[in-house]
Amino acid sequence: MCGGVKVVLKFFATTITGLEDVAADEVWRLLGVEAFTDVSKVFFESTLEGCALLNFSAKSINRLYLLLARSKASSLSEIESVVGSQSFQEFIGREQSFAVRAERHGVHSFTSLDMAATVGRAIIESYRSATGVRLRVDLSNPDVEFLAILRDNDFILGLNTTGPSLHHRYYRLRHHRAGLAPTIAYSMLMISGWTAGEPLLDPFCGAGTIPIEAAIHALNIHPGLRAEKLALRKLRMFDAERLEEMSRRLLESEKNPEPLDITGVDASPRSIADAESNLEAAGLKGCVSFTVGDALRLERVLTEPARRIVCNPPFGLRMGLRDPETFYTEAFRSMRRACPGAGLTVLASKPVVVVRALENSGWAVLGERRILLGSISGYIISAAT
Ligand SMILES: C[S@@+](CC[C@H](N)C(=O)[O-])C[C@H]1O[C@@H](n2cnc3c(N)ncnc32)[C@H](O)[C@@H]1O
Repeated sequence: MCGGVKVVLKFFATTITGLEDVAADEVWRLLGVEAFTDVSKVFFESTLEGCALLNFSAKSINRLYLLLARSKASSLSEIESVVGSQSFQEFIGREQSFAVRAERHGVHSFTSLDMAATVGRAIIESYRSATGVRLRVDLSNPDVEFLAILRDNDFILGLNTTGPSLHHRYYRLRHHRAGLAPTIAYSMLMISGWTAGEPLLDPFCGAGTIPIEAAIHALNIHPGLRAEKLALRKLRMFDAERLEEMSRRLLESEKNPEPLDITGVDASPRSIADAESNLEAAGLKGCVSFTVGDALRLERVLTEPARRIVCNPPFGLRMGLRDPETFYTEAFRSMRRACPGAGLTVLASKPVVVVRALENSGWAVLGERRILLGSISGYIISAAT
């Protein structure tokens, strides 16, 4: 990106814990390189072009980091010496500000804040001894952001090429209070085996995240192109003209919006209105059919059966569910009646209840995986009739 030579660099991308394999598949599909999975991240090698492409196009990753250092370290002085031996001039301009974010997992005699401060000091010192310039720290709106992770004694330093997480999609004007992260919605679609063109149904669509992510995928839309604060645009190693050229090429490769075989149903008219607003904000008005309807009586709503059903039904008392097993059993029965032979992928918080309801209603459970939704567990369950 800064010259003719394509230098191979090391990167890691962060994602939801439990969805690392989906992120690795996406890296393979977009860049043609193998990515190695780790807890909530994947590691791979690519070029700066590859890094830009992934930022513009990826749908399962949160942030993409250039890996600057990975080393065994368990004390602050060891961390300081790992960071201090790095050179930072090619990443930060003299006039730019920076910040360090820190994440710590395991038992240590210091806090994440201590670690961030140590790494920050080491960066300032390394830069000052190479250039004579003392870098400015700006914790709220830095030009350049580093991430320091310490997992037991595995220390990683990365340069954030993304900025705010890519799960903040450009189209999400209306949020459902139990809305799904678009990265999870996209990952569920991939786990379900859905391919663009196959009739798809989300019978509990809320503000439309799953159907909109499906439409984005089907039309080859690059969500990161619309991200407002993509960090790489401020990083000096990326050439602005080349980024523009790549953005233009990717925009040209997007398909024109057209009606797709994707349906979202929700019992709440307010949710359907929100889904329509989000669809319009995505630039995809008319591509998805959103309908007010009862998931327990889908045959009254659907004109054609779907081949794949992907959804996250309401859970818990907060969503008004007094008897979840009966509710889910009726919903899964309705899906079976309305879409015979379809595959079903469902996100649940109480897997035992959902599995029982699937079995009560004649579905065979094919697989289950645990993911982390913040600090709580969610379970993606696949079933077939
Ligand atoms: C967990 S939310 C789905 C959130 C959605 N995936 C999103 O990202 O916005 C569950 C949705 O199920 C809807 N719902 C509850 N009971 C329903 C029923 N019987 N039929 C259809 N939708 C129902 C609620 O209105 C709510 O929008």
